Amino acid sequence: MAATCVIGLQWGDEAKGKIVDLLTAQNDVVVRYQGGSNAGHTVVFDGKKYKLSLIPSGVFRSDVKSVIASGVVIDPAAILQEIDTLRQSGVEIEKNLLISERAHVIFPWHREEDRLMNDTGVRSEAIGTTMRGIGPCYRDKVGRSTALRIGDLYRADFADKVRAICALKNQSLPGLARNEEVRATVKPLDAEQIVKDYLGYAERLRPFVGDAVNYILDAVDADKKILLEGAQGSLLDVDYGTFPYVTSSNSSGIGVCAGSGIRATFFKRIVGIVKAYTTRVGGGPFPTELHDEIGQKIRDRGNEYGTVTKRPRRCGWFDAVAVRYTSRLGGATELSVMLLDVLSGFDTINICVAYELDGKRVEYFPSDVDDLARVKPIYETLPGWSEDITGVRKYEDLPENAKKYLDRLSEVVGKPVAIVSVGPSRDQTIIK
Ligand code: GDP
Ligand code: IMO
Ligand code: MG
Repeated sequence: MAATCVIGLQWGDEAKGKIVDLLTAQNDVVVRYQGGSNAGHTVVFDGKKYKLSLIPSGVFRSDVKSVIASGVVIDPAAILQEIDTLRQSGVEIEKNLLISERAHVIFPWHREEDRLMNDTGVRSEAIGTTMRGIGPCYRDKVGRSTALRIGDLYRADFADKVRAICALKNQSLPGLARNEEVRATVKPLDAEQIVKDYLGYAERLRPFVGDAVNYILDAVDADKKILLEGAQGSLLDVDYGTFPYVTSSNSSGIGVCAGSGIRATFFKRIVGIVKAYTTRVGGGPFPTELHDEIGQKIRDRGNEYGTVTKRPRRCGWFDAVAVRYTSRLGGATELSVMLLDVLSGFDTINICVAYELDGKRVEYFPSDVDDLARVKPIYETLPGWSEDITGVRKYEDLPENAKKYLDRLSEVVGKPVAIVSVGPSRDQTIIK
């Protein structure tokens, strides 16, 4: 049993990329298993910042295999751009990257459907997707009839399939527009251009494409050390998150087996990644959100702007009710608390320990999004600290109040804190 999973326990952007990069040194294989180029994972070392969307954050260690597993949805243009950027930075990926032929492919019609269906008017608020075609691609995968996988790019009937799908999509796309004004913006798909573009992408991707499932199963049989990199966060999980304000995959710990093909009994360590506070991008309820100057201070200090879409992230206090739920759901064995440095300089810091729902105290995370929108956070207020902690490398050197904050957070969530991060770089990390 030698697999470690890195799972976001909030609404994404918990700094999973940093921890995956860090833990890669102790592993033989790093596997990304769900999501797509909606993810933006940042890795910082040697003073340089790298942004990854599809390629596993372990790619910087040349002796480790990076696998994009079957549960991922791949936009070929996006991944090629990432490969090019990495090559330009001198990162050696030629022999290290393996892309599953079972992974599904994102096409231009998926991005167009994403644009048209983000705000259907069915709900009061738009989902606020990343517009990368993620939801529509997963929808086609489950619907099957109009879905294509990476392996299909290399089959003789690929062009015919694209032509047939384009004919169907050209009928359905205008029907997705919520009014005439939007309908006027829908341009017909050019099947021949899409075939040409995708056959070009396929050629360039060919060296990386293979049977990742067999590769992973062999690695499991050989008891290799495997690191699994989650994308998004558990509260964005399509089944267990704040539906419908979620992404279209199982982004909580629940999704690791389905996306990677690795049996659950192989998992040993499940590292739940949390920020020392909470952020969210896009629509949906967020009980501890701060609309005041404190929220803005967190945003400024944490540079809380989307890695992918550059949208300002919504910021708020740490929600222990939500993280207690997601850490139990994913079976987290430990917590990695990130961006603790951002909380330096606050007189007091709040932790949400329970909710008030219709006048009653509740300690569970409501399943209904409308209930969640109505809860009021019940806070415990702890004293802050003023010291700059970005240079701290040992747990005992943290200010007393920072340690008290971590202890209380861990106690309310019910999981031990194993890692504390005090800055974006690899070395700005405290292993407890
Ligand atoms: P991911 O999607 O979970 O990998 O997270 P993102 O990369 O989208 O967002 C995390 C951001 O926080 C990135 O800009 C990181 O460089 C940065 N970061 C990571 N750890 C720390 C930390 O401990 N302190 C600070 N200040 N920034 C951090
Ligand atoms: P990483 O891996 C934060 C959010 C979007 C939107 C919702 C649905 O960097 O943590 P989608 O495009 O997936 O259909 O959008 O999910 N979202 C993320 N938020 N971090 C992410 O990834 C996200 N990926 C999707 O903002 O609210
Ligand atoms: Mg991110």
